[in-house]
Amino acid sequence: MNITIVNHPLVQHKLGLLREGDISTMKFRQLTQELARLLAYEATRDFELETISIEGWCGPIEIQQIKGKKVTVVPILRAGIGMLDGVLDLVPSAKISVVGLSRNEETLEPEPYFDKFVDNLNERIAIIIDPMLATGGSMVATIDLLKRKGCQHIKAVVMVAAPEGVKTVNDAHPDVQLYTASLDSHLNENGYIIPGLGDAGDKIFGTK
Ligand code: URA
Repeated sequence: MNITIVNHPLVQHKLGLLREGDISTMKFRQLTQELARLLAYEATRDFELETISIEGWCGPIEIQQIKGKKVTVVPILRAGIGMLDGVLDLVPSAKISVVGLSRNEETLEPEPYFDKFVDNLNERIAIIIDPMLATGGSMVATIDLLKRKGCQHIKAVVMVAAPEGVKTVNDAHPDVQLYTASLDSHLNENGYIIPGLGDAGDKIFGTK
């Protein structure tokens, strides 16, 4: 399975705080950004480096810089926006592509109602962000869109994943690496992850 569960103590501590039932909007939003930053750190761990020569303070020296591909961060509307600043803290030069999906009530499949991708996706690493990987339908639809635009290197960063969603993404796109703070138990009959966090979008935006 292409899944990395990030067991870093800070990640697990922050995830535990996010699970508190009566957490405030401010706290949830802040912890979401902090967690996104730590998960992005893991998701960028395998970025390739190259050595270049620069003029240092004491003369020419060799330094390392990230090689080649540039990054686009892809928040899935709306909850993915809550993770965006955390990821951009680590990859400030990243360009942002946005995807909004809604369920087609006839086919029950997610369909894009909005998408805006940056150019040259074939030359970029895409990091999709969405706090909750539940059924996996939105994630698969977003990966489909990115691949159709030529993107070949895609990672997905979520805070909490359900086994059902992980299987759906893995079956459809085994080349996509998933990063999560937790693989939870299951989905309930309403599609919520158990134990999960509740509705992450509502908690980030303060809506009900
Ligand atoms: N979306 C959420 O915000 N929470 C879930 O548990 C599942 C989907």
